[in-house]
Amino acid sequence: MTCPRSALLLGFAFLSAVAPARSATLNPEAYRSPIALALSADSSRLLVANQGSGSVALVDLKSGTVVAEVATGDRPAGVALSADGRTGVVSHWYGSDVAILAVSTDALKVTGRVEVGPEPRGVALSADGKTAYVAIGASNEVARVDLATKALTGRLTVGREPRGLAISPDGTRLVTGDARSESMTVISLGAWKVECSLPLVGCANLRQVAFGPDGKEAYVANMQNRGMATTESNIDLGWVLGQRLSRVRVDGKTPVEVISLDPKGKAVGDVHGVAISRDGKHIAVSAGGTHEVLLLRADGTRLPWRDKVGRDLISPELLNNDGRYRRVMVGGRPTELAFSPDGLTVYAANYLDDSIQAIDFASARLVKTIDLGGPKTLSLTRRGEALFHDANRSSNSWYSCNTCHSDGHTNGLDFDTMNDGWHDYSTAHLLSRKKVPTLRRVAQTGPWTWHGWQTSLDEATIESFTKSMQGKRPSAAESKAVVAFLATLDFPRNPNRDQDGGLSTAAKRGEQVFRSSKAACVSCHSGPEFTDGKVHEVGLEDSRDVYRGFNPPSLRGVYDKDPYLHDGRAKTLRDALNGPHNPEDLGGSALSLTEMDDLIAYLKSL
Ligand code: HEC
Ligand code: HEC
Repeated sequence: MTCPRSALLLGFAFLSAVAPARSATLNPEAYRSPIALALSADSSRLLVANQGSGSVALVDLKSGTVVAEVATGDRPAGVALSADGRTGVVSHWYGSDVAILAVSTDALKVTGRVEVGPEPRGVALSADGKTAYVAIGASNEVARVDLATKALTGRLTVGREPRGLAISPDGTRLVTGDARSESMTVISLGAWKVECSLPLVGCANLRQVAFGPDGKEAYVANMQNRGMATTESNIDLGWVLGQRLSRVRVDGKTPVEVISLDPKGKAVGDVHGVAISRDGKHIAVSAGGTHEVLLLRADGTRLPWRDKVGRDLISPELLNNDGRYRRVMVGGRPTELAFSPDGLTVYAANYLDDSIQAIDFASARLVKTIDLGGPKTLSLTRRGEALFHDANRSSNSWYSCNTCHSDGHTNGLDFDTMNDGWHDYSTAHLLSRKKVPTLRRVAQTGPWTWHGWQTSLDEATIESFTKSMQGKRPSAAESKAVVAFLATLDFPRNPNRDQDGGLSTAAKRGEQVFRSSKAACVSCHSGPEFTDGKVHEVGLEDSRDVYRGFNPPSLRGVYDKDPYLHDGRAKTLRDALNGPHNPEDLGGSALSLTEMDDLIAYLKSL
């Protein structure tokens, strides 16, 4: 079947399906940072995607050892294993490709590689192990890959930034969790078309997705954005943001149902993984920010599912100690989860602990930790990375830096973090929400904050701990570590450039427009980061703003920074430049339609 979007493929650099062979070597001294796992059907082995070391490990669960590890590519993000246990597929977030793996009892070998598109994340395999489905985060697609021919056989457009995906037990449907569009998308695999997009209002940061046993419901762990300013009392009432387990009926007939997971005074931070036992009675959710795995029992009394946004805090009945809600401390940052077929053991990939952990469901105890390798001492940047992901650094552990600046980027939402001078607590009900800026290359793009009043990245970091998070002030060593971690964040390869990094013809023309006096962009977006480091009044100010004007944001990676402008009012670059931020109002003159098209093509290539 031809894919309805195949024509659009031509616009991308990812034209050739088979990528050039690259020989990657394994660095034993790298932190492994496992982010995803796939359990074999007989539950004897696990494939683990190690994001930090660019490798995949094969873990023998009986002996509790890594029996094989192979370098696969730049920042693995998702991994799948065929039912017969012989074929593996791993996606590479920064590598834009998937690697196909031959898996045997004690060895792993990369047998092929397929370019799939920008920022691939979740991956799933058909039951016969012949077809892989990959969520492509930056182009909002699911790609279908034929493993025998190593060819892309289709693409479908889903919601914004799909991350997790799962195939229904009967193999007929696939569901994606769309991290930046408050939706899940249901795909019919037979007809190869999108059946529906299910709205999950307010639900952001969708991560792992799992099907319930009858295939009628899909589950996802996510954050609920509640919109209020980050005062301590708002945080504690669950009015800033909270963590949820959500489920949808894939036929779209009922609205989303949610379970709130946060107890007052001791919240849950950064939910990520979700797994359901085959009989549907046991559910596990990982919370990377609070270093724990939550165990929910759905047998016996019904779990307190609520419509839409749910309760601000966890339902009191779940705190009755009847075993329906238990918290297992595992340390580090647990990410993806899988249940053993008997539903008695939960396996967790633990990113910051460089390990696979096994949790016994009955006793709610961590029973095994399998070391994946990597250094045992923490470098400065690794300490910073741990602080960045630590929700215990916020008031009553509601969230971490990572909750808003997802993976150091942005979750695309607006928050009122009270660092724009507006707040005097008496007017804290007046909101002045700002779009979460990306932190990629943040060390190069001072001054900081949208208004650009902050001239020290160190101070901005301290302020983030004490205001955005209402947590304790970091020590000098701690803020130094976080700043060092921030300095490691960079953009992935730009998908709108050709393989050699060159510009398209339209983008070349757009560059002329950008640099012309007609457009006048370079009077503010200048230099290597496309910002002059100054503050300009551009007509978007609010009369109540304490700090006047805004610092021109860097335009690097701007294709993926939507929504745009300080309050996210422009959904697309075109909206921004035709509306509130048009050249005529900024010292230039009106551009023709072609000039605007070319200018946008250029911006997307930065
Ligand atoms: C509740 C969401 C939220 C959390 C949590 C959060 N931030 Fe932010 N961050 C924002 C928003 C919104 C802004 C923009 C604020 C403004 O400009 O007034 C921002 C701005 C920043 C900036 C300035 C970026 C720039 O380019 O100007 C830095 C640096 C930063 N945050 C780091 C952190 C760190 C480090 C943490 C954890 C200690 C953190 N943030 C936690 C939402 C958040
Ligand atoms: C007078 C200075 C100035 C000029 C000229 C200017 N900009 Fe901007 N630009 C800014 C400022 C300041 C902001 C942030 C405004 C806000 O967020 O409300 C901004 C924001 C943007 C954004 C949104 C970025 C984001 O991450 O949300 C884009 C895109 C952009 N400018 C592109 C352009 C282009 C293209 C031109 C030329 C046609 C241009 N700008 C001309 C100062 C300028």
